[in-house]
Amino acid sequence: MSFYGAPEGRRVTMRDLAETTRRGEKWPMITAYDALTARMFDDAGIPAILVGDSAAMVVYGHDSTLPVTVDELIPLVRAVVRGAPRALVVADLPFGSYQASPAQALETAARFMKEAGAQAVKLEGGAPMLPQVETLAGAGVPVIGHLGLTPQSVNLLGGYRVQGRGEAGEMLLRDAKAMEAAGACAVVLEVVPAELAERVSEVLTIPTIGIGAGGGTDAQVIVWQDLVGMTAGPAPKFVKRYADVRTVIGDAVHQWGEDVRSGAYPAAEHTYS
Ligand code: KIV
Repeated sequence: MSFYGAPEGRRVTMRDLAETTRRGEKWPMITAYDALTARMFDDAGIPAILVGDSAAMVVYGHDSTLPVTVDELIPLVRAVVRGAPRALVVADLPFGSYQASPAQALETAARFMKEAGAQAVKLEGGAPMLPQVETLAGAGVPVIGHLGLTPQSVNLLGGYRVQGRGEAGEMLLRDAKAMEAAGACAVVLEVVPAELAERVSEVLTIPTIGIGAGGGTDAQVIVWQDLVGMTAGPAPKFVKRYADVRTVIGDAVHQWGEDVRSGAYPAAEHTYS
């Protein structure tokens, strides 16, 4: 049976997802950072997995995405590729690994593709990143742009806040068009007004992938720990929590600890003779 247009035995490609968008069907993308969850999400019917630089925060415990390196992300991408047999796997290019020049971007993208098996890459930024997008696309690398709230620029943006209001919206629209013209195969729109995301989605022929950008984009992306309630503390407005996994796991581990202390675990049925 075909999966988002991909026949049995072959992965979903960016072309399959673009075709899905052309048919007017929306599609989901989720982050993953290890083989086990990648397999779960693939089995759950998710056609695209992003190994985001959000790994800096949810895997490595930093308070922003900036510190994570290519060498730290490559093993995660490799694990996700191994875990997910059908989904397209997209590697996020981390801060400092592509901004210097198109040649640097190509070198980093090539590492993610050759050493980890990624099928596409994502990079943040508007007009200044057009030469990078052109070079990557020219080299045959499916490249996804990322506009709006670009977390790698948090120090310049002054925080994680809504982008693209007023005049800035027109600039974002221009950047999105330019990204498509430069060869981007999709564009992530993060934390922008829904009306702007809808306009961008109408104008572009490539898929738009929203996160905090309302319901008018062609696809949605989310950090999986936010989706299932793994992350502690208040979530951003755009997050809908579909489960409370943090409580489920916390309660289970607490109960196990108590059982170890009391001697209730292991019981006879967990013991070999
Ligand atoms: O790093 C990431 O997880 C991302 C998504 C939130 C789009 O860039």
